[in-house]
Amino acid sequence: MNSAATHAGNEMRTGYLFVVENLSTREVMGICGVSDAQRGSVGAKLGWHFGEQFSRQGYATEAARAVMGFAFENCHVQRVIGDCFSNNHATRRVFAKLSMHRSRFGQVFDWLLSLRYRELRSIVRYSIQRARWESSGDNTTGADGGIADTAASAGISHSNRPPESTDV
Ligand SMILES: CC(C)(COP(=O)(O)OP(=O)(O)OC[C@H]1O[C@@H](n2cnc3c(N)ncnc32)[C@H](O)[C@@H]1OP(=O)(O)O)[C@@H](O)C(=O)NCCC(=O)NCCS
Repeated sequence: MNSAATHAGNEMRTGYLFVVENLSTREVMGICGVSDAQRGSVGAKLGWHFGEQFSRQGYATEAARAVMGFAFENCHVQRVIGDCFSNNHATRRVFAKLSMHRSRFGQVFDWLLSLRYRELRSIVRYSIQRARWESSGDNTTGADGGIADTAASAGISHSNRPPESTDV
């Protein structure tokens, strides 16, 4: 967080990492971010990490939905993507709840992704185009991308590297 905060003032930033906290208790539950989020980007990458004790309560979905809205509305990206290990069923479920779809290139693409990440396990990619997002019903985040109205409200920071959670 300190590292990200250090870069937050960078006007050329293309990555945003948000702290997700409980608005009542101010407890930090996790992080959610997007990288490569510049105008026209077709590879703005979503990622997250949440504490186990906060799982299965919809927080990842809520935060990711807000960050996705931020990427489309505030950063003007054309496509949002997300990668995870193929056996990360919780994350895959979150991608699905966000109306994201698997790459149509199938398993060959999965293994190419694994090579790119230098991993021996299969990695899957999900994505959503702006047009689909606009018609998905998730396009209800408001002018600030919904960040201020959600559990992701304590958003702070920046990194030119992808958020760690983006990388499986
Ligand atoms: C994966 C993670 C983000 C999920 O967070 P979360 O707050 O529990 O997510 P949500 O509650 O919004 O949604 C999780 C969904 O996955 C489902 N799920 C959870 N575990 C599952 C499993 N093992 N198999 C299938 N579905 C599962 C939940 O039931 C829920 O779906 P539902 O709403 O239809 O019931 C969180 O556990 C985490 O940060 N894990 C470690 C880091 C990580 O994997 N990061 C992602 C790398 S890209």
